[in-house]
Amino acid sequence: PEPTSTREFELRAAPGTTQQFDGRLLDVWAYNGQVPGPVLRVRLGEEVVVRLQNDLPQPTTIHWHGVRVPNAMDGVPGVTQDPIPPGGSFTYRFVPKDAGTFWFHPHVRGAEQVERGLYGVLIVDDAETLPYSRDEVWVLDDWRLSSDGQVDPRFVTRHDLAHDGRWGQMVTVNGDAAQQLTVRPGERIRLRLVNTSNGRVYRPDFGSLEARVIAVDGMYTARPLPLDGFELAPGNRLDLDITIPADGSGRNYAITDRFTRRPFTLATIRADGEPVSTPTFEAPSNPNVPGWDGAVERPVDVTYVLNAQRGGEHGIQWTINGRPWGEHEVTELDGGRWVRVRFQNDSARLHPMHIHGQFFKVIARNGQPVDAPYFRDTVLLRGRETIDVGMVPIDWGRWMMHCHILEHAESGMMTEVRVG
Ligand code: C2O
Ligand code: CU
Ligand code: CU
Repeated sequence: PEPTSTREFELRAAPGTTQQFDGRLLDVWAYNGQVPGPVLRVRLGEEVVVRLQNDLPQPTTIHWHGVRVPNAMDGVPGVTQDPIPPGGSFTYRFVPKDAGTFWFHPHVRGAEQVERGLYGVLIVDDAETLPYSRDEVWVLDDWRLSSDGQVDPRFVTRHDLAHDGRWGQMVTVNGDAAQQLTVRPGERIRLRLVNTSNGRVYRPDFGSLEARVIAVDGMYTARPLPLDGFELAPGNRLDLDITIPADGSGRNYAITDRFTRRPFTLATIRADGEPVSTPTFEAPSNPNVPGWDGAVERPVDVTYVLNAQRGGEHGIQWTINGRPWGEHEVTELDGGRWVRVRFQNDSARLHPMHIHGQFFKVIARNGQPVDAPYFRDTVLLRGRETIDVGMVPIDWGRWMMHCHILEHAESGMMTEVRVG
């Protein structure tokens, strides 16, 4: 269909800007001088036009993570576009097909460019405005600082490759190490969580606050789900529907992260002032995608074995089916045909596996059937785990499939899926 209108944005990627958090100034690379980059907001049906000016000392691109864009807009250098040289520019143009929470980041030297601060959020609002009293975005990131208090310039190390990528010692929400959101008692909030970290996984705990998951990776769930057990691996998004108790005035709710052995406070929600009445409505839902027939008891069509081998610049590199990127085998899939894809993790490390331009559902974990009532674009595999997903590739083109621990991806853990 023809777009209803066009929204134009300018993004300038440049170094030299500084970010203040925790009382210190940090040199970053940023979109429009801010980390996180701007939240681009459009409505379903609108065309998005983004002119990117590259003022970095390196080539770059933008990948629209989770957005079903025309293949030429997917931002993968050497596959869907030429990298934008320093001083150059490129205009991205697409009409999002889904409402939801998406994000964007470079697809050139991601381990460095994303770590330095290049990422932003793209929100596609539903055609009709939902009556939440507010709609907030929390961008979760971590930073590895060296002893001078600046971003550690050793971007891909052997240690990171032998483990779960680059985990920093400083965690920020919207660039702030002590993020606080002040709300009124009785409010009903939509809170969009986005994990832009290179490697860190989060398991947010909202304590006594009632938080329900209404969307995973930008796609609405079949019904609101309890947050318990949901994690955000790099690339993942969770949209939460949160009701603040009407008698909560003066209360502080600490939101903690419980993925690691030592829980810590991610952010605080503070209820203050006179109560407001909670809006009553059903959150939107999305039971299925076109072509999904629910028949999940079929044999595996494609298997991806995840493991490391000796080799590469750092002496260790990550592979898919024993091959690093460059020596990979392209997977050919038919558009509109349901496939069962198996991820088999033969290593002991974490691998959040991501497929560009497609959404899939987890249908089995270690051989046990699972009925996940939602789609996703990135799924976390723990050490030695096997996960089967079902998917109906509907968008044609050359799409990357890779681990979203950016150090793993950069060392070779990437392959191509061609949908014809
Ligand atoms: Cu956010 Cu190729 O990924
Ligand atoms: Cu992506
Ligand atoms: Cu990995």
